[in-house]
Amino acid sequence: MTPEQIDTIEGVRRRLAQVRQRGCVIGFVPTMGALHAGHGALIERARRESHYVVVSIFVNPIQFDRHNDYEAYTIDLRQDLESCGALGADLVFTPTREEMYPAEPAIFVEVAGLADHLCGRFRPGHFRGVATVVAKLLHIVAPDRAYFGEKDAQQLAIIQRMVVDLNLAVEIVPVPTARESDGLALSSRNKHLSGDERQIAPILFQALLVAQKRVAAGCTAAADAKETALQLLKGHPQMRVEYLEVVDAASLAPVERIGGAVRIAAAVWVGGTRLIDNVSVPE
Ligand code: PAF
Repeated sequence: MTPEQIDTIEGVRRRLAQVRQRGCVIGFVPTMGALHAGHGALIERARRESHYVVVSIFVNPIQFDRHNDYEAYTIDLRQDLESCGALGADLVFTPTREEMYPAEPAIFVEVAGLADHLCGRFRPGHFRGVATVVAKLLHIVAPDRAYFGEKDAQQLAIIQRMVVDLNLAVEIVPVPTARESDGLALSSRNKHLSGDERQIAPILFQALLVAQKRVAAGCTAAADAKETALQLLKGHPQMRVEYLEVVDAASLAPVERIGGAVRIAAAVWVGGTRLIDNVSVPE
């Protein structure tokens, strides 16, 4: 079934006020379009747990650290709307840039600390842009639950912290990373990989898994766990490691000695495509 599409904030608020009057639980999946099976997993989970599912499709200009990437980011709205319909979304919110940012924004949401590590070190302003737009979307949609993928573990942690600090009345639901059969995490960037690059891209996940195995087997030196993963990646000169870190699961700060729950996270460039992935090791 084709979902209803609304592109104004006022229109969405009006529709959702009616939905709420019927006592519906609202699940929300924010996206930037270019939907793939990873988004599918988020929408399906929302579908299972809610009476009414809202998906937003908005390419957020303020989270791009490089203007060219924003210009080059294309989506096929018709295709995305079809996917939303097939996955059972009830409403798709498709605001324009002017609708979301009628003037240069004067207020930004910055989550101190968590944004300083991992991707935050290499993408200045990115998480500020993400937190700001997600705060705005949560205000507009006011869902009971909002769904985010664990592939973007830092984004997820930042949003969870924002919701706590700003007392937002929404439950953030983490959804496990969806993967191809060879382990490559699903991402809208994967389509930019050439045939050869696609062949080697799953090595990122394999490298994280060998490090995870080492830590699970009792290795407490983060440097040793990292080295195991880096050795595997070094065998593939087409891959350039931007970072590979063992970080505290809560603060996302790099650790030297592993004494509790950690996450092993990496960003690598495969040709011109930047891929990220992570695995967790519970305490
Ligand atoms: O993960 C994304 O697609 C985006 O960062 C989000 C959460 C939709 C905010 O623009």
